[in-house]
Amino acid sequence: MTQIIITIGIMSGISGTLALMLTLANQYIANYGECTITINKDKEFVVEGGSTLLNTLNEQELFLPSACGGKGTCGLCKCGINEGAGPVLPTETSFLTEEDMENNIRLSCQVKVKSDMQLSIPEDLLNAKKYEAVVDSIKELTDTIRFLRIRITDGQEIDFIPGQYVQLLAPPYPGNPEEVFRAYSLASSASDKENIELIIGYVEEGLVTTYVHQFLDEGDEVSFNGPFGDFYIQTDSDAEIILIAVGTGLAPIRSILYQIKEEGIDRKTTFFFGAKTEKDLVLADEMREFEKTLPNFSYKPILSRVSDDDPWEGDRGRVTDSIEKYLEDAENKEAYLCGSPVMIESAIEKLKEKGFTDDVIFYDDFG
Ligand SMILES: Cc1cc2nc3c(=O)[nH]c(=O)nc-3n(C[C@H](O)[C@H](O)[C@H](O)COP(=O)(O)OP(=O)(O)OC[C@H]3O[C@@H](n4cnc5c(N)ncnc54)[C@H](O)[C@@H]3O)c2cc1C
Ligand code: FES
Repeated sequence: MTQIIITIGIMSGISGTLALMLTLANQYIANYGECTITINKDKEFVVEGGSTLLNTLNEQELFLPSACGGKGTCGLCKCGINEGAGPVLPTETSFLTEEDMENNIRLSCQVKVKSDMQLSIPEDLLNAKKYEAVVDSIKELTDTIRFLRIRITDGQEIDFIPGQYVQLLAPPYPGNPEEVFRAYSLASSASDKENIELIIGYVEEGLVTTYVHQFLDEGDEVSFNGPFGDFYIQTDSDAEIILIAVGTGLAPIRSILYQIKEEGIDRKTTFFFGAKTEKDLVLADEMREFEKTLPNFSYKPILSRVSDDDPWEGDRGRVTDSIEKYLEDAENKEAYLCGSPVMIESAIEKLKEKGFTDDVIFYDDFG
């Protein structure tokens, strides 16, 4: 028995040392030299190998979506690598469908550039740009939610579809030595091409939200890239629009409401918004203003943490209870959901009970 334990110990020691040597060799000795990256058989550039494909593309000002900042946990940084990627890595498999594998789709934050590469990237992603900007104003919507108005200062204009998001960069700050990006939905009107507005909640020990809530001030310079995402209303439809959000999930919905107003979309629209207490009903005044100016729009807030003696006269419960109460069926309706993965999952379940099918449910998962 003792001998078995000693043998296992020796084997583990050897494999641990080998793994460490490989990591060090990869970091300090491996020299992949110059590698040529070709995109869509069209654009070509030469880079020094060794970095992840996501970072290599960023250095060339080509931005793929990356909500987790390259940690391999969001699955958004997919791109087609037709040559030069090597075998699929264990850190990628949970995000790749069978169809992805057949089409050589990979996670660009996990694949390192070690040789020439042939990539295929959708043209709309290649249009994402980096913007330099300044924070014009910050409003505290609640103790944990900030509203940022950011003015683009580098002479560019941003073109986006309401519902899309940008990636905000947090520079190094005390307690975080590295630059990091995270995704934030555009909350502003797409017709304002020189400014963007973001609604950002605080996540304890979160890298970018700590920067936004504890370090960022009015007048500070910031940079962001984008736009990204395929969460937007189907404009070739006449279906009733059901908007469902909790917390900062309000951000893309606000941008969509501006679109409905500015484009004169007269489809019946209902916004179910869930919050804990009345003070968490962020931008409620604006939502009531939309109700006054949009004849087919109604705002239905619901509160989950109000005591019995609270004077709140509106609905009480979770946003899923609103689906139960107000939606009779799914006939000629489309649902647009935004917020935490837990809310989205339970709302989808409720919508399906009402007869909604996958092709009329659209969502942006902030998780
Ligand atoms: C498409 C998209 C759009 C988004 N839009 C918005 C938006 O408009 N407004 C907004 O505030 N956020 C939005 N997010 C979420 C945002 O991108 C970040 O994930 C979030 O702000 C946390 O970033 P962080 O760097 O502070 O935390 P991280 O450093 O990434 O995370 C720190 C820890 O907190 C956990 N964590 C991360 N997020 C949460 C959370 N929400 N609640 C509890 N724990 C969490 C992580 O698992 C980790 O353990 C969006 C996400 C996506 C994918
Ligand atoms: S950037 Fe999130 S998985 Fe690659």
